[in-house]
Amino acid sequence: MKLILILLLISFVLSTNSTLKIKGLDWWQQEVIYQIYPRSFKDSNNDGIGDLRGIYQKLTYLKSLGVGCIWLSPILKSPMADFGYDVSNFREIDPIFGTMDDFDMLIRKARKLGLKVIMDYVPNHTSEKHEWFIKSVERIPPYTDYYIWRDAKYQNGKRYPPNNWLSNFGKSAWEWNEKRNQYYFHQFGVQQPDLNYRNPVVFEEMKNNVIFWLDKGIDGLRIDSVDYLYESEEFLDEPPSHVDGVSAEEYAYLNHTYTRFQPENIALIQTWREVFDRYSARGSTKFMVTEAYGKAEEVIKFFGISKRLGAHFPFNFLFITNVNKESNAIALRDIIQNWYKHMPHYGWGNWVIGNHDNPRPATRYGHFLVDGLHMLQMLLPGTAIVYNGDELGMEDTFIRWDQTVDPKALNAGPLKYQEFSRDGCRTPFQWDDTENSGFTKSLHTWLPVNPDYWRVNVKSELKNKKELITHLEIFRELVQLRKNIVFQRGDLNLYVLSNWVLAVTRSFNDHATYAIIVNLGSEITISNLYEKRPSLPRKMSVVIPSINSNYLKGHIINTNSIVLRPKASVVLTTSEEDWDIKPNIITHEDDNYKIY
Ligand code: NOJ
Repeated sequence: MKLILILLLISFVLSTNSTLKIKGLDWWQQEVIYQIYPRSFKDSNNDGIGDLRGIYQKLTYLKSLGVGCIWLSPILKSPMADFGYDVSNFREIDPIFGTMDDFDMLIRKARKLGLKVIMDYVPNHTSEKHEWFIKSVERIPPYTDYYIWRDAKYQNGKRYPPNNWLSNFGKSAWEWNEKRNQYYFHQFGVQQPDLNYRNPVVFEEMKNNVIFWLDKGIDGLRIDSVDYLYESEEFLDEPPSHVDGVSAEEYAYLNHTYTRFQPENIALIQTWREVFDRYSARGSTKFMVTEAYGKAEEVIKFFGISKRLGAHFPFNFLFITNVNKESNAIALRDIIQNWYKHMPHYGWGNWVIGNHDNPRPATRYGHFLVDGLHMLQMLLPGTAIVYNGDELGMEDTFIRWDQTVDPKALNAGPLKYQEFSRDGCRTPFQWDDTENSGFTKSLHTWLPVNPDYWRVNVKSELKNKKELITHLEIFRELVQLRKNIVFQRGDLNLYVLSNWVLAVTRSFNDHATYAIIVNLGSEITISNLYEKRPSLPRKMSVVIPSINSNYLKGHIINTNSIVLRPKASVVLTTSEEDWDIKPNIITHEDDNYKIY
C-alpha cells in the first residue's frame, strides 16, 4: 500500500498533467475556513472597534456564505500593541471584544448554525504586560527564566546586545531592561517578549492554556508564528542575506538560521497534537493549523511524521509569497505542484490567498482576477481559508502616516512605512453603503473605512444575485460547488494552455468532469483544452463565470477554442444536465463575440 502511495506521488511529481487521489474526509478538510479579524468585522457597541457581539449578529451572514468554520484572530486580553498578538492573559477575553459570556454565547449560536469555531493561539511571546513578564523582570521565582534573558556585551565601556539578531518588526531583537540589568529577546515588537520554551515550566504552562481552550469546547486552534518558537542555544550571530537594497536594521538583512524553523518547534507542535487527538477521540476532531512563512519544504515539516503527527496542516502561503501580478500560468502551475510535491502522503492541501498580514488579493493582483483566484482556491484539492472581506473583492485602504497604527509600519518610519504596513488590509468590513459601511454607528473607526465602501459592500453585491456578476455571488456559488464529490475527492490535472492561461481539471469516477480556466494575462486569449485532453467532450457548459468573462451560467463553450477576456476565468462542466437546463450555445459565429 505504502509503495503504491509513493509511486502515485512520484508519478504526480514527474508529470505536468499529474493526478492526485484523495480518500475519506473530515470536517476540516471539507469546510471552508473563514478568518474573522474581530476589530474590523462588526462593532455592536459603537466604540469604533469590532467585537464578539458584532460577530454574533453576523453569524447568519457567514452561514449564508456556506463556510463551515470561523477562525477568530486574537480576542484575548491584550494591551493591543500588536492588536491582540500580544497577549497579557491567555484565559481572559479582552473587554474591547466583550466578555467570556459573550464568547460562550457566540459559540452556542455558531454550534446551532452548524459552524465550527477555531481561535488564534499566540505561543511564541506574551505581552510585556503579562504578569509572567512583570515577575520575570523582578526575578521572582518561578518566572525568572520564563523569557529569554541575556547579559549585555561591553566594548570600550559601551553596552551592546548579546548578538546581531533582528526583530521581524525591524531593529535589534534585544531590548535592554534597566531593572533586571539584562536584555530580553523579542522576535516581534519590543512589547512582545519571547517565551523560553527550554524552560519545562513554560512548556507546561502553555500546554495547559491549550487545554483550557479545548475544555471550553472550541473546535481547534490556529497557532501563530510556529517557525519562531525556539532559538539555537549557542546564540551565534546570524549571517547576512546580501539582499539588495535592505538596510542593516531590516529583518531581511539576515538569514535567520538560528532563530527560525528550529527542529524543536516541530516537536512542540507534535506534543500539542497529542493533546488535540486525546480530545478528538471524545467526538469531533479538534483541529490544529500552524502559521509559518517559508519554503514549502520547511513549512511542511509542521505536518510532523506519520508516526508522530504535527498540525492537521500548516498554512500554505505560496499564493501570497510566490505569486505576483507578473506571474504566468507556468509559475502558477509550479506553485500548485510545489505544495503537493512536498506534502507528505499523510498530509492535506490548503490554499490561502489573503489574511490580516498581507495586501488583499484584489490589491495584489487587481480585482478582476479575484474570481479566478477564488476558483482555484475553492476548487483545488484541499481546504480553502478565506480572509473576511476578500469574498467581496475588498481592496486595501490607503492609510496615511498620521493614521498608521500597525507597529511594524510605525517601526519602519514615515518614509518606508507603506512597504511594511498591514493596516491597509485590516480596515473595517464593508456591510452596506451607509456611513462607515454599516460597520459601526460611531463616526470614528479605529482604522478608516475604504472610500469605495459605497460600491463594494455586502448589500450591493447581493443585489445582483441572478446574473452572478458580483464577486460575492461568485464566491457563494464556488463554496457550494466545492461540496460536490468531484472537488472533495476527485483527481487533479494541471494544463498550461498558453503563457497566461492555466487550466485545472477535476474528475471523479463517472461523475462529470470540471475544468477551471484562468486567463492571468492582460490580452484576450483563445485556448485549446481539448487538444491537451482529448478525452474531454468538444463542448462544455459554464457553471460559474467570472464577472468580467462575458459568459453566463449555462453557456456552452467549445473546448478547442475557449475565448477568455483579460483576467477572466470560468468553471466548466461536462455535465449533460447543465446542457439541458440552459442550452444557450455560443459559437465563434455568435454575435456575442463581436464585441471583442
Ligand atoms: C503572525 C500574526 O499573523 C501577525 O499579525 C503578528 O504580528 C505576528 N505573528 C506576531 O504574533
